Amino acid sequence: MNTFGESIKLTIFGESHGEAIGMVLDGFPAGENIDIDEIKEQLARRAPGKSEMSTPRKEADEPVFLSGLFNGHSTGAPICAIIRNTDKRSEDYHPEKPRPGHADLTAQIKYKGCSDFRGGGPFSGRLTAAMVLAGAVCKQALSRRNISVDASIIRIGPVESSDPDFDFAMRKEILDARASGDSIGGAIECSASGVPAGLGGLMFGGMESRIAAALYAIPGVKGVEFGAGFEIAKMRGSQANDPIRLEDGRIYTETNNSGGINGGITNGMPLVVRCAFRPTPSIGREQKTVDLLKHENTSLRVVGRHDPCIVPRAVPVVESMIAFCLMDVICGA
Ligand SMILES: Cc1cc2nc3c(=O)[nH]c(=O)nc-3n(C[C@H](O)[C@H](O)[C@H](O)COP(=O)(O)O)c2cc1C
Repeated sequence: MNTFGESIKLTIFGESHGEAIGMVLDGFPAGENIDIDEIKEQLARRAPGKSEMSTPRKEADEPVFLSGLFNGHSTGAPICAIIRNTDKRSEDYHPEKPRPGHADLTAQIKYKGCSDFRGGGPFSGRLTAAMVLAGAVCKQALSRRNISVDASIIRIGPVESSDPDFDFAMRKEILDARASGDSIGGAIECSASGVPAGLGGLMFGGMESRIAAALYAIPGVKGVEFGAGFEIAKMRGSQANDPIRLEDGRIYTETNNSGGINGGITNGMPLVVRCAFRPTPSIGREQKTVDLLKHENTSLRVVGRHDPCIVPRAVPVVESMIAFCLMDVICGA
């Protein structure tokens, strides 16, 4: 199933080198003002071909809304939008030699060789444009509820955002990786502010459960943590517990090691989530793989146009998945 959500169902569809990719948001409330230009701005943040840090693949990423919007607002009918795939080079992909780290091998096993392998098919980072389409719609509805969702890069390889001249250093890491036919990973932090207390539910319906599931749907995400995350394992309770205070009738916590969530339910503090991205699997270096036709070990040097680092383009994607989860839970509250 490629559908997610409780009150609003989000379906993402398409393949990297197929006709189009797109999304359906079913259950989105009527009467929300939706500005298409704002959606295009969000798509432009993710679009490829804008700097030497991303793939040179050039995609206009022009959304076509097929249903659900009318006279500048949502109608209550399913919102369906597509983006046509325009810049494809399918000859760069060879199904008999699966790329290490990518989904080529698992897709062939799971779908009995029938999966569209061109450009990574449904596993391509291209599908994240459809995630941004959905997220951009949700972000507009959230901002009218005074909720903002903002992500930024906090790590590229060994370089951290707290390091001096982070922008320069991360650019250098990415360009060095590219120059040596390699790729590099990184991490993104996202904070949602204005989130009311009391959203979420028990166990699988908890906010951490929902958001983690949505973030792991982003290709390349290999780790998700909330608040202090894995660092909390090093702490004592007296350090980890967020002291609860009351001021001007408002309950808040002095620290936010829980990342705005206790027991799966929002506590009114900013929601803080980080996710780790793997280095891009497709690299120009020789790697070990198998030839599935000849049934023998072989090697592969990936050609084609790939991002040396996924992370810069994934920032609006992370925001989008979190915005969707928040809108979904708000609509069910
Ligand atoms: C914005 C974005 C762009 C991506 N670009 C590429 C790419 O150019 N080449 C590549 O091999 N993988 C790319 N990926 C990652 C793969 O799609 C992903 O690693 C693959 O589907 C396997 O999934 P997994 O890493 O989650 O297991 C990209 C991911 C994102 C989010």
